[in-house]
Amino acid sequence: MSGALLEVGGLSKRFMRGGKRFTALDGVGFSIAAGETLALVGPSGSGKSTVARILLRLVEADAGSARFDGQDLLALRGSALRAVRAKLQMVFQDPQAAFNPRATVGRLLDDPLRIHGIVERAGRPKAIAALLERVGLAAELAGRAVHEISGGQRQRVAIARALATRPSLIVLDEPVSALDVLVRADILRLLVDLQRDDGIAYLFISHDLGAVRAIAHRIAIMDGGKIVEQGEARAVIESPVSATGRALVAATPELPRATENAS
Ligand SMILES: Nc1ncnc2c1ncn2[C@@H]1O[C@H](COP(=O)(O)OP(=O)(O)OP(=O)(O)O)[C@@H](O)[C@H]1O
Ligand SMILES: [Mg+2]
Repeated sequence: MSGALLEVGGLSKRFMRGGKRFTALDGVGFSIAAGETLALVGPSGSGKSTVARILLRLVEADAGSARFDGQDLLALRGSALRAVRAKLQMVFQDPQAAFNPRATVGRLLDDPLRIHGIVERAGRPKAIAALLERVGLAAELAGRAVHEISGGQRQRVAIARALATRPSLIVLDEPVSALDVLVRADILRLLVDLQRDDGIAYLFISHDLGAVRAIAHRIAIMDGGKIVEQGEARAVIESPVSATGRALVAATPELPRATENAS
């Protein structure tokens, strides 16, 4: 599809494991339009995080392409890569592990504003307060250390940090998997609200179709390093065609049946 914000094709990656080559990704392709959410769903080890790491340039692909905003994402270097990093942000499952736990919330939000030159020093406290407010947190939280706040608050801070550089795409790798069910629903609602207001696209990685149902426009199902099914979210959840899709739906009892969803 031309005009996609992100267009990925033929992504392949092999790792060495126990002296043997192991295929983690085998020809993965998908696209995401501006303002759209694509969920990447699949069992543990199916390759979801490897896709994310390749897009974030934390891992090098063996083959394949990724065009983001008209640029060859996998070939970018230096300042061009830094510029794209502002537009393509990432939120991980466990922000405590991703951040220095002793850093203050304010410091975590100051970093991207400073590094990417988004706001002058004098304006940053106000910008930080505004970011906290956007994710439903009090401005006073800026003075607290990361380890002093709750898991849900930390995930909101991670989202605020991703928002700081005004991204057009956020890759979220299991962003709500570590949270209890009520906090999970709050965070999903926040993500939906942010998308509605700012038109941000999401690549939402999860093994949980229940969470995916609340946020995804389209779903791509992965298994064994391949995309085995891809389609409109409701269609995939109501009538999955792949064995993996059927197994995932069967393992998610809270999904509504096709008839309940008809209205
Ligand atoms: N750096 C690495 N070296 C060797 N093997 C790796 C490496 N990274 C990932 N793998 C392997 O590649 C496969 C895919 O891993 P990946 O983390 O992408 O799966 P996933 O779908 O994100 O799983 P989960 O749902 O458990 O997070 C796994 O078998 C994993 O062990
Ligand atoms: Mg993973």
